[in-house]
Amino acid sequence: MVGGGGREHAIVEALSRSKRVERIFCAPGNAGIASLAQCVPLKDTDIEGLKAFALGNAVDLTVVGPEAALAKGIADSFRAAGLAVFGHTAAASRIETSKEFAKQLMAKYDIPTAAYRSFTDFDEAFAYVSSRPFPAVLKYDGLAAGKGVVIAADRAEAEAALRDMLLDAKFGDGKVVVEDYLTGPEFSFMCFVTGNRVWPMPLSQDHKRAFDGDLGPNTGGMGAYTGLPFIIDEDRSFALENIMQRAADAMCAEGCPLSGVLYGGLMKTPDGIKVIEFNARFGDPETEVVLPLIRSDIYDMFEAVATGRDTSAPEWEDAVTMGVVLASKGYPGSYAKGVEIRGVEDARGIVFHMGTKREGERLLTAGGRVMMCVAKAPTLAEAKELAYADIDRIECDNLFYRKDIAHWALK
Ligand code: AMP
Ligand code: GLY
Repeated sequence: MVGGGGREHAIVEALSRSKRVERIFCAPGNAGIASLAQCVPLKDTDIEGLKAFALGNAVDLTVVGPEAALAKGIADSFRAAGLAVFGHTAAASRIETSKEFAKQLMAKYDIPTAAYRSFTDFDEAFAYVSSRPFPAVLKYDGLAAGKGVVIAADRAEAEAALRDMLLDAKFGDGKVVVEDYLTGPEFSFMCFVTGNRVWPMPLSQDHKRAFDGDLGPNTGGMGAYTGLPFIIDEDRSFALENIMQRAADAMCAEGCPLSGVLYGGLMKTPDGIKVIEFNARFGDPETEVVLPLIRSDIYDMFEAVATGRDTSAPEWEDAVTMGVVLASKGYPGSYAKGVEIRGVEDARGIVFHMGTKREGERLLTAGGRVMMCVAKAPTLAEAKELAYADIDRIECDNLFYRKDIAHWALK
């Protein structure tokens, strides 16, 4: 397993339930993962180091969590060395790493998304934005860890953002995609994909803003749940057929087939379901609420995707999940690290570690998002009660959390 966050903890946990898995290594891992896998002190982007480790330890299959490693070509490099890997080639990862590639693909293959144009020239971009209704959506083209999107309310905000992106090189050299502003609830649709075979996972919803009521700055995600009442079966079938399957087919036709997870960040707009973005990997924190529901052996699925062979669709538990993130006070801005956490062993549900480390017997905070309490139950209301009961069992002086996870579903 490559990576060391909550997503990787959830993947390692699912792998640890496999009958076929003898031993798990995780690079770099974290304090929670260490109870299920042997952590290896290698960075997730140290492709040569990881390859040497996999070869040296006769690793049968490598699963890649983070997009940075995929964008850097870890899957290409592993395959060239004869190693089985679950993760897309660098060329296929462009569906996430290049907004323009993704938008062109969607236009060419008729995958529903917001109308757009892309620019490298400031004056042209500003003239176009000024000619369109506000708010305007400006996306810097490149991996920007969620920070490259600006929703500009008026001309002045658009001008400032375009200056940052195109003139002051705040983000680096590149392009800006300008697209129409869409409205409606957002949700995440993750599928296992190999070539044109697509196996859907349960739908989930992330909470990107730091504070209750979806206020405050964007974060890596403050909580998530499954069992979305506002996405009916018809919406899901539409998205599976016209978005996820079509994208998999399109990538085959373009000569860069997918082999990993395709993540659709989708929105249910008044004109139907549309794509906000694609990611070429498991979502975080969505994975932490989705994978606890998998009943089939996840190793079979990873292996089928890595080797491009067919397999049966995975089975999922008939339950819902809800997860609440505990984050360091100050996150996503600056925050202290090394603050002691107590009571994790009293939790009744699952606790995934995101940014923790162990020092002797003590468990300490080591990141912005520190851990996530996940509960499973027949209904969301019950799952919510269980997840927040676990949040109350964990003691730490420097953590905060959102109290309204799943508010879209539990009105
Ligand atoms: P992205 O990095 O493309 O996922 O964008 C980050 C966030 O910006 C999304 O989760 C949305 O909340 C918002 N966003 C992106 N594109 C649009 C759009 N066309 N209309 C409305 N909101 C958007
Ligand atoms: N939860 C959003 C992402 O993984 O990009």
